Amino acid sequence: MLITYNSEKKLFHLHTSDTTYVIGIYDEGYLLGLYYGARVTDDDFSAFCCRLPNASFSPADPVIGEHGFSPDTAPIEYGCNGAGDFRISAFSVRGAAGDNVTDLRYRAHRIYAGKQSIPGIPSTYVSDDSEAQTLEIDAEDAVTGVQATLVYTVFADSPVMTKRVIVRNPTENTLYLERVFSACNDFPTMDFDLVTLYGRHAVERTMEKRPLAHGLQGVESKRGVSSHAQNPFAALMRHGATEDAGDVYGFNLVYSGNFSALAECDFNGSTRFIMGINPNDFEWTLGSGEAFYAPEVVCVYTDKGLGEMSRIFHRFYNRHLIRGKFKTEKRPLLINSWEAAYFDFDTDKLLAFADVAKELGIEMLVMDDGWFGKRNDDRSSLGDWIVNEEKLPGGLRPLVDGVHARGLKFGIWYEPEMISPDSDLFRAHPDWHVHVDGRAPKVGRHQYVLDVSRADVRDYIYSMIASVLQNNDIDYVKWDFNRNISDAGSALLPPERKKEFFHRFILGTYDLMGRLVEAFPDVLFEGCSGGGGRFDPAMLCLTPQIWTSDNTDPIERLTIQFGTSLCYPASAMGAHVSACDRTGYKTKGDVAMWGTFGYELDPRKLSEEDREIVRRQVAAYHKYYDLIRTGDLYRLISPFENRFRAAWQMVAADRSSTLFTLVTMRKEENGMCFVRLKGLDPDRMYACAEDGKTYSGAYLMRAGLNVSEVIRRDGESLTLYFSAE
Ligand code: GLA
Repeated sequence: MLITYNSEKKLFHLHTSDTTYVIGIYDEGYLLGLYYGARVTDDDFSAFCCRLPNASFSPADPVIGEHGFSPDTAPIEYGCNGAGDFRISAFSVRGAAGDNVTDLRYRAHRIYAGKQSIPGIPSTYVSDDSEAQTLEIDAEDAVTGVQATLVYTVFADSPVMTKRVIVRNPTENTLYLERVFSACNDFPTMDFDLVTLYGRHAVERTMEKRPLAHGLQGVESKRGVSSHAQNPFAALMRHGATEDAGDVYGFNLVYSGNFSALAECDFNGSTRFIMGINPNDFEWTLGSGEAFYAPEVVCVYTDKGLGEMSRIFHRFYNRHLIRGKFKTEKRPLLINSWEAAYFDFDTDKLLAFADVAKELGIEMLVMDDGWFGKRNDDRSSLGDWIVNEEKLPGGLRPLVDGVHARGLKFGIWYEPEMISPDSDLFRAHPDWHVHVDGRAPKVGRHQYVLDVSRADVRDYIYSMIASVLQNNDIDYVKWDFNRNISDAGSALLPPERKKEFFHRFILGTYDLMGRLVEAFPDVLFEGCSGGGGRFDPAMLCLTPQIWTSDNTDPIERLTIQFGTSLCYPASAMGAHVSACDRTGYKTKGDVAMWGTFGYELDPRKLSEEDREIVRRQVAAYHKYYDLIRTGDLYRLISPFENRFRAAWQMVAADRSSTLFTLVTMRKEENGMCFVRLKGLDPDRMYACAEDGKTYSGAYLMRAGLNVSEVIRRDGESLTLYFSAE
């Protein structure tokens, strides 16, 4: 049993193979989060129920008694607002009386096999009920009558737990949800560093680490999307924990909209961590009988360091998040027209790309932005998804057929949730964009956001895209989203519901994308948002790969890919070789090989020498495909810590092979460098394909490789493949 309930002690144990989470039902129905960490089966956690009762004006529960218990100092499982717990609250409801004091107490629980999906919101899944168990705890506020069901799932094959919340209003009155976080964790200590991923366009997911301090700290998005600026990921690393050892708790919100991840350390030296929908610009009117579903948080714990946390996320996402045909089916190696031609292309040029691409072994041509309306730059036509026949005479057919006739697949670009002020769609429907009456909305990249919280808008966009996909034998769609949302408002929402907009927008996105993905199961969808501005687990449920960054410079890509790899697997990271001249093609290929791999250049311009390198890369792509998609990532030298170089390794799950890559960012003339590999079997012998020598796993991991030559040349890279004999 993964989940047990001890009715005598009123304790829930949620076990995975390596972790345990303990919840207690305390006097008066207070739900307490008593333990989260390495596996422990004890059933007495009474020492953790209260901390310093009555410390520093903390109010006591009147029934339990003045010296018994204060919600302010207890490890409250799901912290509520205004009823004596002064720490950051996960939940706050305003009732008919107008106040927002909220106090949830235990009412009932259920334990069942499997895991349920969340209505309207993507989430992790099981293929068979035997893969997980779920605990639902119903809690209630006696005065407002609001009910919150805390939902926990633990998995049999992964040290992973998911947490989410369902709020119900069984009363006659209308209730107002002010805050509904998905996860709340109280830790008895504050000896942690907080790890987060900040960034901006072309510099996504930079790893940042800060020691927790008394008070509040954390990250959020108010941009309407998960965003370049902060990713909905956070980890708490116990002081002293490293890449390879020590306690790490990782949290990733399966949501693409405004989020908040906050840690507060109180006067007791304890830590509360909460993650969920950002309560700023949010309120939800919950009518009588209605329910609200919060997205889920994926929680990973390991005592083996940050690297193992990442590997747990990667395996888990490949098994329980990414879905559809391309979860397992090999993804085509693509060439994209964007950096090759920008808006300047026509059928002949694209077919000429296809001719060379075919000759190089590339498998799919993707036509990026610029094929529709009058779009010759980024100032017009979003929403007018009608082929520009000046560029593509006779429509898509001749091009798509021509590409297919050359033996390549064909992909197309869309930015469905956007509308250009200069578009026929905007002229026909001047209230279809996101706006607030009386205010001229800000423009971003000369465009407005289309109000996909509206069903009529979604239906229109759906039919425009579906007819193109139906009639043209399209194999791939790149789904872009190139601005953040300001002036948030929908023409259809009444004033009292305006603060529901951001969440309704995201629900609309999921509905639109979900319908298209379901209707076209053979089409590979790739997510994108000005590069990686919407790189989150919810998107990965819909699009199995996401364009990681518009920055294709292989040296800049190192930090971007290292940061992204904190929780997202290689199978998800769009990575292309481009024509940028920072390094040679070998290094560009070695870096892009870490992700979904492809090209983003005019293949006609490649020299014969570079074409030969590309042919070798194509062969390597096929050879290493399974290893990279299903293997374990070991980050050996992090570009966040080392100014000179970065190195990483993919190791087959059965340790039968490994691919090692090192890239020199800045040369060291007289340096010596030895890199020790990780994750191998010390007792097996590994043959190196490149130098023809054979090494024991012990030698490679303890003595290491002498890579001193590679570190003496700027932009140089080394890739070595070892297979066990
Ligand atoms: C975004 C994407 C790019 C490209 C352009 C097209 O910036 O990230 O890859 O598709 O839009 O306008």
